[in-house]
Amino acid sequence: MDITKVLVADAVDASCVDLLKKFSIQVDCKYKLPKEQLIAEIPNYNALIVRSDTKVTADVIAAGKNLKVIGRAGAGVDNIDVKAATAKNILVLNTPGGNAISACELTCSLITTLARNVVPGAASLKAGRWDRKLYSGHELYGKTLAILGLGRIGKEVALRMQAWGMRTIGYDPIVSAEDAKKFNVESLTLEQIWPQADYITVHTPLIPATRNLICSAVFNKCKKGVRIINVARGGIINEADLLAALNSGQCGGAALDVFEQEPPVDKITWELIKHDKVVATPHLGASTTEAQIRVAVEIAEQIVALTKKSKEYSV
Ligand code: NAD
Ligand code: MLT
Repeated sequence: MDITKVLVADAVDASCVDLLKKFSIQVDCKYKLPKEQLIAEIPNYNALIVRSDTKVTADVIAAGKNLKVIGRAGAGVDNIDVKAATAKNILVLNTPGGNAISACELTCSLITTLARNVVPGAASLKAGRWDRKLYSGHELYGKTLAILGLGRIGKEVALRMQAWGMRTIGYDPIVSAEDAKKFNVESLTLEQIWPQADYITVHTPLIPATRNLICSAVFNKCKKGVRIINVARGGIINEADLLAALNSGQCGGAALDVFEQEPPVDKITWELIKHDKVVATPHLGASTTEAQIRVAVEIAEQIVALTKKSKEYSV
């Protein structure tokens, strides 16, 4: 495949550009382009590299008359219209796994943060108060963690939280009970999971089957005070239902790294973010030096591999 000019449209680590340039590929970095400008620029490029800010919609793809590849330096391809790209024979690449450890580590941090009221306790002390009683928490030892989605991130979360003495149960339609047992996760049905979980963490993609996976009907089947963590995708937990469950005390706390709309605009989302029992982060799951270098190099390597392959074929 002939890839000579690449547009990097989001702030991807410099190692991506360095590697592409090493293979004599011309790279332009133009971040935060308004959509009209992206549409005007895209015909000049054979490949587009994005993270999550740039929305690669059907009209952007239609304008890319020389576009052969869209690369996402990240796991999901939610911001790329894959159907429109496929219809134009444009390859969509991503880097699944490159940021899995980082997303897993943020998840584990959020679980421990919720258990010990670290965020509200620290904020209260910074505000000059000394409220030791108000922020007493509980141990994770002996508690049950339910993991929905036992893929790359879910599995790593299980292994780490077992070290805290948590019992790990989980559900994944394509991971067999036998495979889950290999990493000490007891595979159960969702109906078995709800009444047993002290904590529920979701690690699925956002697909029709997982949209609103956690909703009022589910909260009503859970233990009172169940805690919820979402470092996967906004929309897996219904935000209005979560807010209601937090207000009623049915949900004892939530940690959210992702939201139905990002950046958040909805009133309910902001109510959640500001809620006393919520710890919220601005989609930081993959935001570590290591993960960003890994995904940047991986996406560049894939593009270089395509280029080299085409040269080999043409010899
Ligand atoms: P993965 O593909 O390795 O694992 C996802 C698992 O979910 C799969 O095993 C799949 O079978 C399972 N699954 C699908 N439908 C399900 C359902 N209905 N119920 C239960 N399980 C179901 O993906 P991953 O790399 O582990 O990523 C998990 C999620 O985390 C994705 O949504 C990804 O986009 C997101 N992510 C977020 C960040 C962040 O910055 N917050 C970083 C990396 C990944
Ligand atoms: C991903 O899909 O990899 C994550 O959500 C992180 C990111 O958007 O960079």
